[in-house]
Amino acid sequence: MDRTILVTGGAGYIGSHTALALLEAGDRVVIADNLVNSSKQSIAAVERLTGATIEFAEVDLTDRDQTRELFDTYPVEAAIHFAGLKAVGESTEKPLLYYRNNLLSTINLLEEMAAHDVFQLVFSSSATVYGDPEILPIPEGAATGPTNAYGRTKLMIEDICRDVAAADPRWQISLLRYFNPVGAHQSGDIGEDPNGIPNNLVPYVMQVAVGRREKLSVFGGDYDTHDGTGVRDYIHVIDLAAGHLAALDHLPEGCREYNLGTGSGASVIDVVKAAEAVSGKEIPYEIVGRRTGDIATSLADPQRANDELEWRADRSIDAMLTDAWRWQSKNPEGYPRDDA
Ligand code: UD1
Repeated sequence: MDRTILVTGGAGYIGSHTALALLEAGDRVVIADNLVNSSKQSIAAVERLTGATIEFAEVDLTDRDQTRELFDTYPVEAAIHFAGLKAVGESTEKPLLYYRNNLLSTINLLEEMAAHDVFQLVFSSSATVYGDPEILPIPEGAATGPTNAYGRTKLMIEDICRDVAAADPRWQISLLRYFNPVGAHQSGDIGEDPNGIPNNLVPYVMQVAVGRREKLSVFGGDYDTHDGTGVRDYIHVIDLAAGHLAALDHLPEGCREYNLGTGSGASVIDVVKAAEAVSGKEIPYEIVGRRTGDIATSLADPQRANDELEWRADRSIDAMLTDAWRWQSKNPEGYPRDDA
């Protein structure tokens, strides 16, 4: 409330929804984004929806000078750090790109925050840090062990945050481990707009529903789950955005991890059926082989976030798909191109 919050990666999917929630709560928002996997159109849409103005800086956080200038220009009081590369498959092919981009940007951000006396940070981590989980639902104390370069960048950034917080008591850092964010703002004016062929299930299903793709490949039908397909803890992006505001309002002393999920799961087939019901479209699918690195089931234990952040994700899978479908049907090709 009435704070100036830096949102790195704020033009992206989760960042834009969080920027909107911050503006609705009365905060001022500075977005820093290099626009490699996002659109300025999302910022324009958030401004239209809220009637507020966003300060936008096209910044590459891997550039120390640009990062310094950002903090020299804006009176930032806290940061939410979303910016980063996030495609698992690409991270396997180009690991150094992922390590350079995700780690260097975070180190520059932390150094310039400290140099400008800003010590409040919310970091966009991922349930991917747990790898193949030992216990379900997964508590924050479970063992970590990401299985790809992308996931390792998330865990390394968490380690960096734990180390800086241990070295300087002024830091207050929340590491938010998201489960599977889906859905869109209820206006249908902002949503997820992946480049190229979607890697993730819900954007792919939506593109089949809208007629951009012929059929879904279901990666594996022989998992040990209720129908043989993978089970995930899908969380509505609006609930997730609210989780960031709750984290800012309840920052820990030092550094602390929080799972952001619902605690209940849906299989690939459950998602397909729910998407058919809300869209009124048939979603043809074919069961194919498992995707390398996938696990049977991922489920959050969100108790710590429920208790300490006073936050709960309660939107249903039907609400998630209804809102995802509204966005997809209003914007079948995603955002218009920035240069159009
Ligand atoms: C994936 C990433 C994870 C990342 C998250 C971001 C992998 C292995 N994991 O999680 O690191 O943090 O996205 O949201 O990529 N599925 C299909 N067909 C498809 C796409 C997906 O059957 O075309 C299935 C998957 O096998 C899985 C479920 O749908 O069972 C969800 O997949 P996805 O949306 O890609 O998320 P995750 O794999 O859980």
